[in-house]
Amino acid sequence: MKSLKHLFENNLTWANGIKKDMPDYFEDLSKRQQPEFLWIGCSDSRIPAERVVGLKPGELFVHRNIANLVVHSDMNLLSVLQYSVEVLKVKHVIICGHYGCGGVIASMKKAQFGLVDNWLRYIRDVYQGNHEELDKITDKNKRTDRLVELNVMHQVKNLCHTSIVQNAWHQSQPLTVHGWVYSLASGLLNDLNCCISDQTQLDHMYHLKPEA
Ligand code: CO
Repeated sequence: MKSLKHLFENNLTWANGIKKDMPDYFEDLSKRQQPEFLWIGCSDSRIPAERVVGLKPGELFVHRNIANLVVHSDMNLLSVLQYSVEVLKVKHVIICGHYGCGGVIASMKKAQFGLVDNWLRYIRDVYQGNHEELDKITDKNKRTDRLVELNVMHQVKNLCHTSIVQNAWHQSQPLTVHGWVYSLASGLLNDLNCCISDQTQLDHMYHLKPEA
Protein backbone atom coordinates (compact mmCIF):
# COMPACT_ATOMS: atom_id res chain seq x y z
CA MET A 1 0.00 0.00 0.00
CA LYS A 2 1.36 3.37 -0.99
CA SER A 3 1.42 5.82 1.85
CA LEU A 4 0.92 9.57 1.44
CA LYS A 5 -1.20 8.79 -1.58
CA HIS A 6 -2.26 12.37 -2.12
CA LEU A 7 1.35 13.45 -2.60
CA PHE A 8 1.83 10.86 -5.34
CA GLU A 9 -1.38 12.06 -6.96
CA ASN A 10 -0.11 15.64 -6.80
CA ASN A 11 3.17 14.48 -8.33
CA LEU A 12 1.44 12.76 -11.23
CA THR A 13 -0.71 15.82 -11.93
CA TRP A 14 2.34 18.07 -11.83
CA ALA A 15 4.52 15.91 -14.08
CA ASN A 16 1.70 15.32 -16.58
CA GLY A 17 0.87 19.02 -16.65
CA ILE A 18 4.43 19.95 -17.60
CA LYS A 19 4.76 17.15 -20.16
CA LYS A 20 1.55 18.29 -21.86
CA ASP A 21 3.10 21.69 -22.65
CA MET A 22 6.72 20.58 -23.01
CA PRO A 23 6.98 16.88 -23.95
CA ASP A 24 10.82 16.79 -23.74
CA TYR A 25 11.12 18.84 -20.54
CA PHE A 26 12.13 16.12 -18.10
CA GLU A 27 14.35 14.27 -20.56
CA ASP A 28 16.25 17.46 -21.42
CA LEU A 29 16.60 18.45 -17.76
CA SER A 30 17.81 14.98 -16.77
CA LYS A 31 20.90 15.40 -18.98
CA ARG A 32 22.49 18.33 -17.17
CA GLN A 33 22.12 21.23 -14.76
CA GLN A 34 23.73 24.64 -15.26
CA PRO A 35 22.62 26.78 -12.32
CA GLU A 36 24.18 30.22 -12.02
CA PHE A 37 23.18 30.55 -8.39
CA LEU A 38 23.72 28.75 -5.11
CA TRP A 39 21.05 29.53 -2.52
CA ILE A 40 21.84 29.00 1.15
CA GLY A 41 18.63 29.49 3.08
CA CYS A 42 16.73 28.53 6.19
CA SER A 43 14.90 25.19 6.31
CA ASP A 44 11.67 27.04 7.11
CA SER A 45 8.80 25.54 5.08
CA ARG A 46 7.43 28.95 4.12
CA ILE A 47 10.26 29.93 1.77
CA PRO A 48 10.15 28.11 -1.59
CA ALA A 49 13.57 29.27 -2.81
CA GLU A 50 13.08 28.88 -6.58
CA ARG A 51 9.65 30.43 -6.59
CA VAL A 52 10.70 33.41 -4.48
CA VAL A 53 13.16 34.45 -7.20
CA GLY A 54 11.17 33.21 -10.19
CA LEU A 55 13.64 30.54 -11.29
CA LYS A 56 12.91 27.17 -12.84
CA PRO A 57 14.22 23.72 -11.89
CA GLY A 58 17.86 23.51 -12.99
CA GLU A 59 18.55 27.19 -12.32
CA LEU A 60 19.13 27.25 -8.56
CA PHE A 61 21.40 24.97 -6.54
CA VAL A 62 20.07 24.83 -2.99
CA HIS A 63 21.36 24.18 0.52
CA ARG A 64 19.18 24.78 3.55
CA ASN A 65 19.68 24.45 7.27
CA ILE A 66 18.24 25.99 10.42
CA ALA A 67 18.86 29.75 10.30
CA ASN A 68 21.02 29.62 7.14
CA LEU A 69 24.34 29.23 8.89
CA VAL A 70 27.75 28.82 7.27
CA VAL A 71 29.83 26.81 9.72
CA HIS A 72 33.39 26.17 8.59
CA SER A 73 33.36 22.59 9.93
CA ASP A 74 30.01 21.67 8.34
CA MET A 75 31.00 19.05 5.76
CA ASN A 76 27.53 19.06 4.29
CA LEU A 77 27.58 22.77 3.45
CA LEU A 78 31.23 22.73 2.39
CA SER A 79 30.59 19.83 0.01
CA VAL A 80 27.65 21.67 -1.56
CA LEU A 81 29.79 24.81 -1.83
CA GLN A 82 32.75 23.01 -3.38
CA TYR A 83 30.62 21.23 -5.95
CA SER A 84 28.67 24.31 -6.91
CA VAL A 85 31.74 26.57 -7.18
CA GLU A 86 34.30 24.16 -8.65
CA VAL A 87 32.13 21.96 -10.85
CA LEU A 88 28.94 23.89 -11.62
CA LYS A 89 30.82 27.21 -11.58
CA VAL A 90 27.95 29.19 -10.10
CA LYS A 91 28.51 32.94 -10.39
CA HIS A 92 26.55 33.98 -7.31
CA VAL A 93 26.02 32.59 -3.84
CA ILE A 94 22.96 33.99 -2.08
CA ILE A 95 22.70 33.66 1.66
CA CYS A 96 19.07 34.35 2.46
CA GLY A 97 17.70 34.64 5.97
CA HIS A 98 14.14 35.57 6.86
CA TYR A 99 12.48 37.88 9.34
CA GLY A 100 10.79 36.02 12.19
CA CYS A 101 13.27 33.11 11.91
CA GLY A 102 12.49 30.59 14.66
CA GLY A 103 16.16 29.63 14.96
CA VAL A 104 17.18 33.24 15.56
CA ILE A 105 14.35 33.75 18.06
CA ALA A 106 15.36 30.59 19.96
CA SER A 107 18.99 31.72 20.07
CA MET A 108 17.93 34.85 21.98
CA LYS A 109 16.24 32.89 24.76
CA LYS A 110 17.72 31.51 27.94
CA ALA A 111 15.64 28.32 27.67
CA GLN A 112 17.26 25.09 26.52
CA PHE A 113 15.94 23.33 23.42
CA GLY A 114 18.23 20.30 23.39
CA LEU A 115 20.65 19.30 20.67
CA VAL A 116 19.78 22.27 18.45
CA ASP A 117 21.27 24.63 21.06
CA ASN A 118 24.71 23.60 19.82
CA TRP A 119 23.78 24.80 16.34
CA LEU A 120 22.09 27.97 17.58
CA ARG A 121 25.20 28.86 19.55
CA TYR A 122 26.65 30.33 16.35
CA ILE A 123 23.83 32.89 16.30
CA ARG A 124 24.25 33.58 20.01
CA ASP A 125 27.88 34.46 19.19
CA VAL A 126 26.69 36.89 16.49
CA TYR A 127 24.46 38.54 19.12
CA GLN A 128 27.34 38.78 21.57
CA GLY A 129 29.56 40.34 18.90
CA ASN A 130 26.92 43.00 18.22
CA HIS A 131 25.30 43.32 21.64
CA GLU A 132 25.93 47.06 21.97
CA GLU A 133 23.79 47.76 18.91
CA LEU A 134 21.19 45.07 19.66
CA ASP A 135 20.69 45.85 23.36
CA LYS A 136 19.65 49.40 22.41
CA ILE A 137 16.69 48.15 20.37
CA THR A 138 13.81 48.03 22.84
CA ASP A 139 11.19 46.53 20.52
CA LYS A 140 11.70 42.77 20.74
CA ASN A 141 10.59 42.03 17.17
CA LYS A 142 12.80 44.77 15.75
CA ARG A 143 15.73 43.41 17.78
CA THR A 144 15.10 39.93 16.38
CA ASP A 145 14.86 41.29 12.83
CA ARG A 146 18.15 43.13 13.24
CA LEU A 147 19.82 39.94 14.51
CA VAL A 148 18.43 38.13 11.46
CA GLU A 149 20.20 40.73 9.28
CA LEU A 150 23.45 40.66 11.27
CA ASN A 151 23.42 36.87 11.16
CA VAL A 152 23.17 36.89 7.36
CA MET A 153 26.00 39.43 7.08
CA HIS A 154 28.13 37.29 9.35
CA GLN A 155 27.44 34.17 7.29
CA VAL A 156 28.37 36.05 4.09
CA LYS A 157 31.79 36.68 5.62
CA ASN A 158 32.08 33.11 6.88
CA LEU A 159 31.47 31.85 3.37
CA CYS A 160 34.11 34.17 1.92
CA HIS A 161 36.65 33.00 4.49
CA THR A 162 36.57 29.47 3.04
CA SER A 163 39.42 28.31 0.83
CA ILE A 164 36.79 27.25 -1.74
CA VAL A 165 35.62 30.82 -2.37
CA GLN A 166 39.08 32.39 -2.12
CA ASN A 167 40.62 29.84 -4.51
CA ALA A 168 37.89 30.66 -7.05
CA TRP A 169 38.88 34.33 -6.82
CA HIS A 170 42.59 33.44 -7.12
CA GLN A 171 41.70 31.70 -10.37
CA SER A 172 39.84 34.82 -11.58
CA GLN A 173 36.55 32.94 -11.48
CA PRO A 174 33.74 35.49 -11.12
CA LEU A 175 31.95 34.78 -7.86
CA THR A 176 29.87 37.17 -5.77
CA VAL A 177 28.40 36.38 -2.38
CA HIS A 178 25.17 38.18 -1.50
CA GLY A 179 23.25 38.65 1.76
CA TRP A 180 19.46 38.92 1.59
CA VAL A 181 16.54 38.69 3.98
CA TYR A 182 13.09 37.44 2.97
CA SER A 183 9.92 38.79 4.56
CA LEU A 184 7.34 36.10 5.28
CA ALA A 185 4.74 38.85 5.74
CA SER A 186 5.21 40.50 2.33
CA GLY A 187 6.90 37.85 0.20
CA LEU A 188 9.59 40.39 -0.67
CA LEU A 189 13.38 40.19 -0.50
CA ASN A 190 15.57 42.80 1.18
CA ASP A 191 19.10 43.13 -0.20
CA LEU A 192 21.41 43.93 2.72
CA ASN A 193 23.99 45.37 0.30
CA CYS A 194 26.81 43.38 1.84
CA CYS A 195 28.05 41.77 -1.41
CA ILE A 196 31.59 40.46 -1.45
CA SER A 197 33.25 39.65 -4.76
CA ASP A 198 36.97 39.71 -4.05
CA GLN A 199 39.51 39.09 -1.33
CA THR A 200 40.32 42.75 -0.73
CA GLN A 201 36.89 43.17 0.91
CA LEU A 202 37.87 40.72 3.67
CA ASP A 203 39.77 41.41 6.87
CA HIS A 204 43.44 40.70 6.28
CA MET A 205 43.45 38.02 8.96
CA TYR A 206 41.29 35.79 6.78
CA HIS A 207 43.25 36.15 3.52
CA LEU A 208 44.43 32.82 2.17
CA LYS A 209 47.20 32.44 -0.40
CA PRO A 210 46.52 30.58 -3.64
CA GLU A 211 46.89 26.80 -3.49
CA ALA A 212 50.49 25.70 -4.09
CO1 CO B 1 14.30 30.31 9.86
